[in-house]
Formats: sequence, structure tokens, C-alpha cells
Amino acid sequence: METIYTIAELQKKIISGKAAGKKVGLVPTMGALHSGHISLVKRCVNENDICVVSVFVNPTQFNDKDDLINYPRTPQEDKKLLENAGCTYVFMPSIEEMYPEPDTRIFNFGTLETVMEGGFRPGHFNGVAQIVSKLFYAVLPDCAYFGQKDFQQISIIREMVKQLGLQIEIKSCPIVREADGLAMSSRNRRLTPEQREKAPQIAQFLFKSLAFVPEKSIQETLEFVKTNLSSDSIFKLDYFEIVDGYTLQPVSDWKDSNDIVGCVAVYCGPIRLIDNIVYKQHAD
Ligand code: PAF
Repeated sequence: METIYTIAELQKKIISGKAAGKKVGLVPTMGALHSGHISLVKRCVNENDICVVSVFVNPTQFNDKDDLINYPRTPQEDKKLLENAGCTYVFMPSIEEMYPEPDTRIFNFGTLETVMEGGFRPGHFNGVAQIVSKLFYAVLPDCAYFGQKDFQQISIIREMVKQLGLQIEIKSCPIVREADGLAMSSRNRRLTPEQREKAPQIAQFLFKSLAFVPEKSIQETLEFVKTNLSSDSIFKLDYFEIVDGYTLQPVSDWKDSNDIVGCVAVYCGPIRLIDNIVYKQHAD
């Protein structure tokens, strides 16, 4: 594995790989890698000749300064994990490399970005689109891999690829969970032992709510998850929404769509965690 720090150097490698007919996959990350990231990297390695993993804590997507400052950074451990997973190039640019001047681009994702994370984290998805588009232009991968924990992010990136007319296949990969159900996240390492012990309840209430489909109503399912997540003062709920898996708009009946997902964002102490559960999925 080679570590690359500049876009020019990365492009040189990619251009010569593509000239030799190689298929290129990209896994964008913000580092502090865990098994969830590594599952994306392994899939990328299996499905491509060249696997590029970017490790960059993108300042433009943080609407909370403290979250940016405290975001875990573990570059040496990340490199070891990536080497073992078979990554070809790890791209670790500086902020100046990615933003030699402020990125003033404003994307418009319509109603996809006004709900859930978009509503609670103003500007977040614009920042995600800024950095992911820069990475896409730098690598021009055949495929790019994203984890389904960030369900809304995948919809936004698919829409961005469509708007920019890029020929990049977006691969959505299943959530990887700890043995107790907690969705893997770089932020989990900031949980205290008490918060870590309670955090799996988020996933456990989501799993229990699966049994509500289709007999109990959407309203009852919403109430079940919201009430349970509000009953312990360690949790502070931002939202729990049951939405159409494509439009991300709330549904009011299980019959409203063939793709229905429950998405939650909740603080466990000061750490904001997100998770989701698929209630209905159409067979391809
Ligand atoms: O999902 C993430 O880790 C980030 O939002 C991403 C896609 C790497 C962009 O910074």
C-alpha cells in the first residue's frame, strides 16, 4: 500500500492504472477506522483492481466546532488496518490540499436535504457534497462505497452524482454492528463506559420495533421508539422518523411505500449517534 498526500500524485497513479485497463474503487472516510469501514474496503478490494481509501476529516461538513475538534484521529492505526485489508492507495491530504481556497459551491438537493440530518445539521450535506465531489473528480472511480448507517448521505450522494453527470456507481453497504447491536461509528470511541453500556439500547429499540410491521400503525411505532429513547436521561432524541427509502419523506401508512426505513439521531451524553432500520424493502 502507498500513502499519497496530493491530488496530483494520486491522479498520476490513477491515470496510469486506468490506461492499463484497471477498475478503480474509492472508499471515502474520515479515518478513525473500525470494522464497518474495513467491510467497505474489503468489498472495494474484491470488486476492483485498484482500491483507493481517502482519510480526511472534512471541516466543511461539521456544523458543530467542538465535534470537529474532538473528532477522533488515528492515522497510524488507520494505515495498518488499510494495509491488512488490501487497500492499494491511502489518500491523506491536508486541509490546504483539499481547500486551497474556500469552497463556495452551494448544492441544491431539494427535499432530500431538508429532513432529518439536513434539518438538524444545517450545511452538513453541502459540506459532504463539496468534499465527495472533489474526491470523485480527483479519482474518477468506477464505483464508490458508503455505509448504510448514513442512510440519508447515500441518497444525497446518488443525487449529486446524477446532478454532476458523473459515471460512478454508488454502492450502499450494510451497517456493521457490535455484538450488542450498537452500530459501529468512529464516535463510539468517545463514549464513557456508562454511555457505552447504554448506547446499544438505540439499536435494540429499533430491532424491537420491527415486530410492529404491519399490524401496529406507523404512529404506534414512532411512539414506541420515541418513548423508550426518552425514558433514560442519558439519551436526548433529535429525531426518529419513518420515511420512504427513496424520497426520505415521512410515510403515514405501511402501505404508502415498498421501501420504508426508520432513521434515528440521538445524543448519548454529549455524543450524537445515528442509526436506522429497514422496515420494508422491495425485492429487486
Ligand atoms: O461518511 C463519512 O465518513 C463522511 O461524510 C465522508 C463521506 C467521508 C465525507 O467526508
